[in-house]
Amino acid sequence: MSAAAPLLEVDGLSTVLGSTGARILDRISFSLRRGEVLGVVGESGSGKSMLGLTIMGLLPPVIRRCEGRIVLDGEDLAGLSPKAWRAKRGRDLAMIFQEPMTALNPVMKVGAQVEEVLVRRRSMSRAAAREEVVRLFRRVEIPSPERRVAAYPHEMSGGMRQRVVIAMALAAQPKLLVADEPTTALDVTIQAQILDLLRDLQRDQGLSMLLITHDLGVIAETADRVIVLYAGRVAEIAPVRTLFDAPAHPYTRALLSSIPKTTGPRHRLVSIEGAVPGVGALPKGCRFAPRCPFHQPACDAAAPPLRVVGEGHVVSCILPCSTDRPVGALA
Ligand SMILES: Nc1ncnc2c1ncn2[C@@H]1O[C@H](COP(=O)(O)OP(=O)(O)OP(=O)(O)O)[C@@H](O)[C@H]1O
Ligand code: SF4
Ligand SMILES: [Mg+2]
Repeated sequence: MSAAAPLLEVDGLSTVLGSTGARILDRISFSLRRGEVLGVVGESGSGKSMLGLTIMGLLPPVIRRCEGRIVLDGEDLAGLSPKAWRAKRGRDLAMIFQEPMTALNPVMKVGAQVEEVLVRRRSMSRAAAREEVVRLFRRVEIPSPERRVAAYPHEMSGGMRQRVVIAMALAAQPKLLVADEPTTALDVTIQAQILDLLRDLQRDQGLSMLLITHDLGVIAETADRVIVLYAGRVAEIAPVRTLFDAPAHPYTRALLSSIPKTTGPRHRLVSIEGAVPGVGALPKGCRFAPRCPFHQPACDAAAPPLRVVGEGHVVSCILPCSTDRPVGALA
């Protein structure tokens, strides 16, 4: 596999809810480069978690993947058996969630939990694993790591617990880390520290990360490129600066409209009139149409295809854009 090839390529990925046939994710395509932080942003219900869970092979039973490829380092995960996908999760794929306790065993010391990963996934001896846990705790900036390995999760703060979960994710040396709202449950100061840590890990260790968040401040500080999801479809993909300086999709513009610049205090998504349509009420054409101030009859005919409108910049909207080019490779 060439080093220049993307680490992850998602191509035409769709998921459906039970027998309804409603597409929760609809023909999602993007790529993630090695060592890149690719942000995924959108309002609640836009399909961010669904995307992360689909890549991890962790869909709830009522939802199934119906088409598309998920190619990680040259291998199509969508073709794997559940057992082989599980093995990938232990080794090549790791996920961290908003609430660290979902990943931690409350009655087991935190050091022992990370040690288990090292012994099982990297075949380390107990003695080597114990040393490695301390090194990992130091790497994720847990103070007094030699002492903290013996703590139980309830003896730690939320921020420290999330550091343990990040250490546990790193222990397996995954190719891809999927982080779903990793700082949302933490207070603002701790959020900033965890984001700094993730950014450092990305820089120092070339960690590749799909960073899911509803927080544009997190995106501005952490992501290299961004996917904007709306109601299960890609609205726009752009390098982070382009997204903030020249958003092309009316939905992205609405999201950004209350944010004057990319630096400064963190902002929550502005509220846009209306809500993301539920899976039972998805419009046939552009899914943003019921809320879009630029809506016109042509928007209702079919899903607008993704168009290239700039360097690494694609948008799904029929409105013309001054930098339009013919459709080419996706970002
Ligand atoms: N288990 C489920 N059964 C049925 N529908 C579901 C299920 N999980 C998610 N959905 C639907 O899938 C869509 C996408 O949900 P998802 O959880 O991915 O959104 P999200 O962008 O992660 O939102 P949030 O910011 O609130 O976490 C929503 O319409 C949601 O109602
Ligand atoms: S396709 Fe039409 S409704 Fe959809 S975002 Fe563009 S202008 Fe608005
Ligand atoms: Mg979610």
